[in-house]
Amino acid sequence: MSVLSRLLRRSDDGAELVVDVLKRRDLAAIQAIEQVSYPKPWTPNVFLSEIELSRRGERHYLVAHRGSELVGYGGLMFVVGDAHVTNLACAPAHQRTGVATRLLAELAWQAIERDCGALTLEVRTSNVGAQALYRSFGFAPVGVRQRYYENVEDAIVMWCHDVADAPFRDRLRELCPEAARG
Ligand SMILES: CC(C)(COP(=O)(O)OP(=O)(O)OC[C@H]1O[C@@H](n2cnc3c(N)ncnc32)[C@H](O)[C@@H]1OP(=O)(O)O)[C@@H](O)C(=O)NCCC(=O)NCCS
Repeated sequence: MSVLSRLLRRSDDGAELVVDVLKRRDLAAIQAIEQVSYPKPWTPNVFLSEIELSRRGERHYLVAHRGSELVGYGGLMFVVGDAHVTNLACAPAHQRTGVATRLLAELAWQAIERDCGALTLEVRTSNVGAQALYRSFGFAPVGVRQRYYENVEDAIVMWCHDVADAPFRDRLRELCPEAARG
């Protein structure tokens, strides 16, 4: 998405996106999005556990608000020098307006600040929209986990290497100037 189209979309939607760390008070709004986003949504207890792990530095979760509305969220799990994207979702009414791009860019900068060398994730083979989003960040498929979802659908494992290097930082700045760090 170009910077111009992103700005135009932002003005269409009114309020600017504000990104913050996930807190317990966000969980009700997150549950509503989670329910419509996934066949097997995470329960509130899973999010509570992830918040607890975030306090210990093992996770990092963000939420995005437009005005008073929580419109998206996403998180990272830190694993021996890499960061794994655990969850990323945008409320249906706000999709294709750059919410996930902003969240993923913020998460990627966080991974860089934590000295991670790569970003990884799994995505459903049918989820071509999410795969397009990840490809725009430089994720590439590296393998398949068979029947990973509900013991039925395969997961594509995607990897984004060398996230600390200048080309990836430049890509992040281009994809999402709002999230850019020095
Ligand atoms: C996948 C998801 C997170 C994308 O969120 P989003 O905020 O709509 O994504 P963005 O607006 O930042 O999209 C950025 C780019 O990704 C690609 N993309 C995103 N959704 C797409 C879709 N449904 N179809 C095709 N391309 C898509 C496009 O290239 C898009 O740029 P464009 O709108 O200029 O064409 C969202 O559809 C969602 O919450 N889905 C349900 C949960 C889910 O599947 N999460 C991912 C789990 S691995």
